[in-house]
Amino acid sequence: MSFESKIKELLEKRELAKLGGGQKRIDAQHAKGKLTARERIELLLDEGSFEEYDMFVTHRCTNFGIEKQEFLSDGVVTGHGTIDGRVVYVFSQDFTVFGGSLSEAFANKICKVMDQAMKVGAPLIGINDSGGARIQEGVNSLAGYAEIFERNILASGVIPQISAIFGPCAGGAVYSPALTDFILMSKGTSNMFVTGPKVVKTVTGEVVTEEELGGAMVHGSKSGISHFVAEDEKEGIALIRKLVSYLPQNNLEDPPVFPCTDPIDRLEDSLNYIIPDNPNKPYDVKDIIHSIVDQNEFLEIQRHYAPNIVIGFARFNGMPAGIVANQPNYLAGVLDINASRKAARFVRFCDAFNIPILTLVDVPGFLPGTAQEYGGIIIHGAKLLYAYGEATVPKVTVVLRKAYGGAYCVMSSKHLRGDINYAWPGAEIAVMGPKGAIEVLQNKKLAEIADPKEREEFILKSEEEYKDKFANPYNAAKYGYIDDVIEPRNTRFRIIRAFQALATKKDVNPPKKHSNLPL
Ligand code: HXC
Repeated sequence: MSFESKIKELLEKRELAKLGGGQKRIDAQHAKGKLTARERIELLLDEGSFEEYDMFVTHRCTNFGIEKQEFLSDGVVTGHGTIDGRVVYVFSQDFTVFGGSLSEAFANKICKVMDQAMKVGAPLIGINDSGGARIQEGVNSLAGYAEIFERNILASGVIPQISAIFGPCAGGAVYSPALTDFILMSKGTSNMFVTGPKVVKTVTGEVVTEEELGGAMVHGSKSGISHFVAEDEKEGIALIRKLVSYLPQNNLEDPPVFPCTDPIDRLEDSLNYIIPDNPNKPYDVKDIIHSIVDQNEFLEIQRHYAPNIVIGFARFNGMPAGIVANQPNYLAGVLDINASRKAARFVRFCDAFNIPILTLVDVPGFLPGTAQEYGGIIIHGAKLLYAYGEATVPKVTVVLRKAYGGAYCVMSSKHLRGDINYAWPGAEIAVMGPKGAIEVLQNKKLAEIADPKEREEFILKSEEEYKDKFANPYNAAKYGYIDDVIEPRNTRFRIIRAFQALATKKDVNPPKKHSNLPL
């Protein structure tokens, strides 16, 4: 064979590999509104940056006649490329080859890029579209999954790991995405479940569709498993690129700082009027977030899940920050099980990856009731408390309005190593709201007043007294628990100054094997 023929052979093999399971299956993939594994990678990475590994890998299985079918790449496309010029490692499961099912060779390919991403210290992005364990390969396939899980675990907190779900992801296969930092699903074309509708029907008798059981909106709003719900794959891939722009390459680096054209001292007069005079009236905390961050740009995470707390990324003078904010517009911004879990995981992510945290507080307390107590609000609320207390990244807090009871402590208070804690002038920092406090403090006196009018007057007078004493920021400021009471319209400037001062912050936790987070 001449050298020229060898080159021709290489090019032909490449073309063959690019066809995956063949044109017919590619057409079927497109007909479902899905892109192919390679098309997804092309959209995800900077143009021309993809370097593919293991294109010529094939499976080695000989069971059930599978040996007669061989596809180059064996159902997963792997390699590295760049996003905005920064290296990322990727794997993209190819549904056109044996339904994207995972073989031993397939798993080895994924493990190879995972290992290299760890050595290099670069994010890993996995695109999932698979029928799960390749049935013909039996335990070798299961072993392959477990090898990936172990690497997901070791990489956790070292490199950012992002999972896109653009097709089926069922059975134990769901646990690799579950071990990663962010999951994104596309509407209508993706699903995740531990057992599919058929098994559900057999075991429990419940009749449910794939979409109802594990579609994108189900995991985006009910389980909270999916951090992002995209209208389609293109939007999803654009979201991943955006997400990566806020993240450092690994836990030893700082997140990337972008040039900022938004003035740091931009005054936002509307903030002086945003809090209603009536403390029971809601407002949208996202209006505050948008008005203080660079270019009003906020990447919200888990938007549809536990909306009583808002989390996401933004930039202050070009520097990324994670934002956690109680949302008075939903359940008065109360902390419940879901909100606590949602925010706790986010705080821990930010802390692991050197992303400063801004906390905006307006919280009436923890949600009372049997549903919450039986569901374990004690342990779940403790997660958020733990996450804040453990975090050593710069922590800036602004109390916008209410900071009551345990929720005051939890929401990045000074006592949990909050670095710079500000309050707006209308902040109410107390053990509880005036109404509840008077009922407890004056219970004997109230019982003695028979006349309803007199009773009402007494309550109002006592509440005013309580508000003067406790429902303001100055009592906390008197003890140094609040560093300053700031004018709302100047909030952006004060936050940027705070983060600038804290940029060189160093803080550590005591040496230990690992913590025992209340799970
Ligand atoms: C081998 C598989 C496969 C699998 C699909 N295929 N899943 N081959 N092992 N797990 C093949 C099909 O035979 C078919 O081959 C091609 O992929 C496309 O599949 P279709 O069924 O035609 O596609 P579709 O109708 O879109 O249905 C997709 C599907 C369905 C819903 C994913 O294929 C399915 O239910 N597959 C089985 C899912 C499953 O139970 N997996 C095991 C889960 S348990 P041809 O040649 O016709 O194109 C698991 C354990 C992991 O994964 C444990 C980790 C610890």
